[in-house]
Parts: sequence; structure tokens; C-alpha cells
Amino acid sequence: MSFEPTEEFALKSDQKDELRSFRNQFNIPLKDGKEVVYLCGNSLGLQPKSARDYLQTEYDAWSNYAVEGHFTGKRPWMPYHKNFKSVLARLVGTNENEVVAMNSVTVNLHLMMVSFYRPTESRYKILCEANAFPSDQYALETQAKFHGFDPSDAVVELHTRAGEHLLRNEDILKTIEDLGDELAITMIGGVQYYTGQYFDLHSITKSAHAVGAVVGFDLAHAVGNLPLMLKQWDVDFAVWCSYKYMNSGPGSVGGAFINEKHHKSDLPQFAGWWGHNEDKRFLMEKGFKPIEGADRWQLSNAPVFNMASHLASLEIFEKAGIDRLREKSLRLTAYMEYLIKLDGNKRLEILTPANPDQRGCQLSLFLHGGGKELFNRISARGIIADWRAPNVIRVAPVPLYNSFQDVYKFATILKEELNR
Ligand SMILES: Cc1ncc(COP(=O)(O)O)c(C=O)c1O
Repeated sequence: MSFEPTEEFALKSDQKDELRSFRNQFNIPLKDGKEVVYLCGNSLGLQPKSARDYLQTEYDAWSNYAVEGHFTGKRPWMPYHKNFKSVLARLVGTNENEVVAMNSVTVNLHLMMVSFYRPTESRYKILCEANAFPSDQYALETQAKFHGFDPSDAVVELHTRAGEHLLRNEDILKTIEDLGDELAITMIGGVQYYTGQYFDLHSITKSAHAVGAVVGFDLAHAVGNLPLMLKQWDVDFAVWCSYKYMNSGPGSVGGAFINEKHHKSDLPQFAGWWGHNEDKRFLMEKGFKPIEGADRWQLSNAPVFNMASHLASLEIFEKAGIDRLREKSLRLTAYMEYLIKLDGNKRLEILTPANPDQRGCQLSLFLHGGGKELFNRISARGIIADWRAPNVIRVAPVPLYNSFQDVYKFATILKEELNR
């Protein structure tokens, strides 16, 4: 990839970008009457303009049909979750019956742990990355306790080598091998939320299976960011949210993948009526009879209003296509990296891997001093990024709505404020 450090180059790259029209499908916040440079899609994706119409449709269905909206109207509510199956399956690389839109990341993680973490006296260890997203840490710790284990013994954390910021794949695989038949489950983030490191999910899955462990991933920072092939990699389960790269709105519905090889097994599960045989659900009978497929893990009737914006967003994804998005993403993030490195300011270090195969959109910028102050100054100039204590600014140019010009503007402001 060859780049130039000029606005002219950025504008030309935007003109050549076949996905550039998708930006117009999103509402970009304004500051002092001007569009901000929004680089926070790793935290909360922008609002698709179509989301209002999708929501309005459901408000209208509620007002026009009331309870009958479950079975009538443009998109009846009872099977509403089925509207997502084909797009989600394509985004994560699975069959449609293996994915379901439901709940939130942490709820889904607990539900999956109930089914897949079945510790014995000798095989009870849970492997995760050190500094995993806190909610995941709390979930794993309390799952270990729930089964009567001491989390400080049962939860094994993968640490980086001294002086390094990233986990080496060889160290992850070695830890799995060393844990051997003590390892019950690996449960790590697909893309690490703080560093932006994209782990080698395939080799992790293979080595964990080789020692007889189950493999799950938290894909909150991976879904909609990179193409995934969960089926081909033979992952056992995964969970994710839709409010980051999937632009579905704050707290919007999450999702889960459960490999079909587990669908017929007698896995333990916490059940609810939305996982019960659909034909018999309203007979209100005693005795849980699960649906076959990922839908079996659903608990409650679907939160249709937040699913409406999820649907609006996924229809945009379907048109753009994750492979084309990834192609643009590789260039956008590489352009950002190029501009930042060109400045050569020693106060700033990029934590995220330089190898594009090991990252998604996000770059995590580590500041050796004065980080929060710098963050406040760039924010005051219309950059929306996010600050992660103690010293990281995360920026994610998102291919659906960010432009090369956004990246150029950000890098220019960053440089001016760094060198002030
Ligand atoms: C990696 C990761 N895991 C878990 C969560 C928690 O998500 P939820 O609030 O949907 O449970 C988040 C939220 O940002 C996250 O980034």
C-alpha cells in the first residue's frame, strides 16, 4: 500500500472508494455546526438513518395491532429474531441455525458458561487473557465460584512477556498445552478491547481441542469488524454485542453462536419459554422441550424495539459486504498508522499489532505522559475517540462511514496537539 501525507491524497482515495456512499446512510454528530471526526465505532457505532423508519414500523404495529402484532404486520414480533439469521450467519461464518440474536454479551456469556463449563475435580480451569473486559472477568470469576472453585486457582490469565504489550500466539498455545487435561474451557476476546489485538482464533481452537477443552470467544470487538469463520475453525460457541461495529444502538441486542455439533447434546442449560418448541409455546404446557438449534438458548420474548435498529443496520451490512468492508478497513487503518508514524513523536506508541492480520479497525495509542490532556485537546477540536485509563486513546476508522479525509483530519490535529 502506498500513501501520501496530503489532504489531496485522502480526498482522491475517497473518490476512488466504492463504499463511500454508505457514509450518507449514517447520522454523523455535529459540533459547532460541523461534522465531528467520529472514530469511536469500537465503542458505539453511528446511527443508521434508516433506524428511525424501522423503529417507526414497530411503533405503528404496536399502535395498530397491539397484541396481534406478534403474528401480524410487516414483521411479526414472534419470529422477529429470525430476520437476523442470514446476515449474522454470513458475518460470523456459520450456518443460520447456529446463530441467534438475543440478550447482551454478559448474559449470553453466562448462558454459554452454564452449558459449556462443566468442570470436574481435575478439569476445571478457565483460560482468558489478563485484562479481559471487566464484565467477562466478573462472569468467569463468578462462574468458577458458582461451581465451588476458587477463582484465583480456576481462572488462568494469559500475560504478556515482560516489557511487551501484546500476547504472542506461541505463548497462548504453550499455556494451553501446559494446562493440558486441567483445562476445561478457553474463553478469550476475539479482538482484545484495549490493545486491538486480533487473536489467531483458529490455532487457539485447534490447540484447546487437542487437550480436550471447549472453546468460546467474546466477539464484541470482532463482529462486523473482520470476516469470521467460526464454523470452519470449529469454535464451540461465541457471544457478541451489536452496538459497536454493528451500529445497532446503545445496549441493543447481542448474539450468540452455538456450533451445531452441540445442538442435539444433552448440555445443561438455563431455559426460558422462547427456547421452547415454537409450535407448542402458547399451549403453556409444563416441561421444557427445546427448539433444535441456537434458538434453544433464548429465554424471553424478543426486545423488538432494539432489534428494529439492529435490523436497519444489518441490512446496510448486507449491501456493503464484510469482505469489501475489510478490504477498505485494511487501507483506512494502515493510512492512519502511516500518518501517525510519519510524525515520529516519541511520546506516542501504537500498541496494536503492526501486522494487519492481527488487528481490525482499531489502533490503540499509548501515551508516555500527558495522555488525558492530549485526549481532551483533540476532543475539543472535534475528534470523537475514546480514552482508556491509564494512558490509551483508542481510535477506530470504520469502513462503513469513515473516510480517508477523516483519518487525515484526525492525524493532522493529533500531530498539532502532540507537538504543541
Ligand atoms: C469485550 C467486551 N465484552 C463484554 C462487554 C459487555 O457487554 P454487555 O454490556 O453487552 O454485557 C463489552 C462492552 O463493551 C465488551 O467490549
